[in-house]
Amino acid sequence: MVPSLERAFDRFFGPRANPWRHLGALAFFLFWIVAATGVYVYAFFDPSVAGAHRSLERLAREQWWLGGVMRSLHRYASDAFVAVALLHLAREALAGHFRGFRWFSWTTGVILLWFIYGSGVVGYWLVWDRVGQFSATATAEWFDAFGLGSAPMVRNFLSRPDVTDRLFSLFVFLHIGVPLALLAVMWVHIERIAHTDTVPSRALGWGTLAMLVAASLLRPVASDAPAAFGSLPQTLRLDWFYLFAHPLMYATSAEVLWLIAGGATLALLALPLLARRRAAAAQVRLARCTGCARCAHDCPYLAISMVPRSDGRAFLKQAVVRPEQCAACGICAGSCPTAVPGAKGEVAPGIDLPGLALEAIRAQAAQFAAQGREIVFACRHAPSGRQGSDGALIELECAGQLPPSFADYAIRRGAPSVVIAGCALNGCEYRLGNRWTDARIAGTREPHLNPSVARERLRTLWAGGKMRAPRAARVAVQVAAFAVFGALVAWLSFEPPYRTLPAGEALVRVIVVHAGERLQPCRKRSPAELAALAPNMRAPEACPRGRAPVEVDVQLGGRVLVREVLAPTGVAADGTAQLYRRLAVPAGRHALQVRIRDSLRPGARAWERTETVEIAAGQVLTIDFRAGDGGIFLL
Ligand code: HEM
Ligand code: SF4
Ligand code: SF4
Repeated sequence: MVPSLERAFDRFFGPRANPWRHLGALAFFLFWIVAATGVYVYAFFDPSVAGAHRSLERLAREQWWLGGVMRSLHRYASDAFVAVALLHLAREALAGHFRGFRWFSWTTGVILLWFIYGSGVVGYWLVWDRVGQFSATATAEWFDAFGLGSAPMVRNFLSRPDVTDRLFSLFVFLHIGVPLALLAVMWVHIERIAHTDTVPSRALGWGTLAMLVAASLLRPVASDAPAAFGSLPQTLRLDWFYLFAHPLMYATSAEVLWLIAGGATLALLALPLLARRRAAAAQVRLARCTGCARCAHDCPYLAISMVPRSDGRAFLKQAVVRPEQCAACGICAGSCPTAVPGAKGEVAPGIDLPGLALEAIRAQAAQFAAQGREIVFACRHAPSGRQGSDGALIELECAGQLPPSFADYAIRRGAPSVVIAGCALNGCEYRLGNRWTDARIAGTREPHLNPSVARERLRTLWAGGKMRAPRAARVAVQVAAFAVFGALVAWLSFEPPYRTLPAGEALVRVIVVHAGERLQPCRKRSPAELAALAPNMRAPEACPRGRAPVEVDVQLGGRVLVREVLAPTGVAADGTAQLYRRLAVPAGRHALQVRIRDSLRPGARAWERTETVEIAAGQVLTIDFRAGDGGIFLL
């Protein structure tokens, strides 16, 4: 399906502007838009709890024509970035591009997804509206599934005094730091790719920018209401590109979400292991290598280095292949100046594929030419490319594997004409094969086709949309495609609304972070005991380790909300006991009973609080136990 979609787009966009063929470049382009607009918005942003929301609203109100558009662009470009990265992933996966030498791009691509989400989600927290507060709280609850740390992370978000300007500095640090790390991983992602396609064509770039500006003007981004602690809106307009995981977590659990996220990541990372055996890498025939470096310049995967000569011949350099990076595409053989049939016909290039040597290809060509047949040199990855010809077929690994001298050779040996067939332009299985072939034939890249070859006897047939649609149809389809994509981005960025709680329900949060009583009391050390200790160990009291568990019992309207015995954390069982629960309850007037006990001694004191509470639908009641501050608080 993807190839036919790509071909259909070729008709209307042309291969250079076909978005399906340049998703990686589009992702880079969107990243730069996000970065540039982010710098602008940050210049007006007040990174404090009280000022964050206000400063963004002021920017959108007072400068709707620039600040407002910048802010909307920042969001929509970020959304489009996720969409394009996921489409890029799907396209590469469907093409099987996780196998063999591509494992590196694939694995770094999977890692990129975590950085993309890490960068984007924190951006919502900075706005500190109801959506940002919901997202920060849900993310903290997600990380709390591991029970790490001396207190649940969510405690930082439960009441107004918990959210401090220092916490905001951390948000800012993360929202700048993680995208910078993302950029570094993007750079690593393309590190093993030569002549990388990181800049989209003008038509594609301008079209994308125009689409984002149109979305920003037609549906400017506005914040939700400022964050508030006593209530949760019944519905929230979430950005589904970035925040879909929160509803998924509340529909399942934090543990299930970890299983889904971790499982999907591991499954994607494991895909390269399913690879079939790899084709043998290209091999250098040193006796024929002149050290010209053309193969190194043409290799699409930077698999060839030029190193000092080792055989004493009068050349400075020689080519060396890094087998683990080699795609076995043969493009290097096609670029080698020594890949020319000799006086006796045979060919022995300086670099060649052991699995499909140029000599075998030449021998077939000689045979078909002697029969006076048209010869089709065809890439084996593009069966549709050769459909325009019924000549004698000679399969290549890539069209770029064919040295142009072979066309000359076949014609001189009697072939009436020669066809070179391969993948669509900008859709080459090995990225550059058809581009180099066109350039070699046009004489703009070495090795040139011999100019004496009659051009009407040599054709290239590249798969893909060969017929370009009429201009009016092209413009109409391009505008429609951008409009559909832009509308989808702007829609999913807010719709459909997410229902946070069932109608008529309220939310109760229970948080307990408390160290139970010591199982044995501390005792004062005698002077003799102290003297026997090393000077740095002379603590006046000896406290045997181990603490009592903490019992928590919360009932609302006669229904047990929490009844648990919490074990102390820590290897020596002397850390705090921790509990955090988030429960939907029916709204209304209820009798609330909270009882917390932290001792095993019979008759020891427990903390209790009993009262009638009135909770409206959508209200949030937080039951927070802070022994040091006086006991059980209702927030
Ligand atoms: C931030 C997001 C990403 C960006 C900016 C990005 C960018 C790029 C670029 C520019 C290329 C080179 C294209 C070319 O010149 O032919 C590329 C190749 C590739 N990408 Fe990504 N990518 C991203 C995410 C991903 C993801 C999520 C995956 C999959 C897990 C992935 C898998 C690949 C693979 C396998 C290739 C190699 C294609 C080939 O060898 O022909 N990328 N990427
Ligand atoms: S076969 Fe392809 S990937 Fe391998 S060295 Fe030659 S050009 Fe590079
Ligand atoms: S193109 Fe051929 S001659 Fe030139 S460096 Fe590569 S192997 Fe050697």
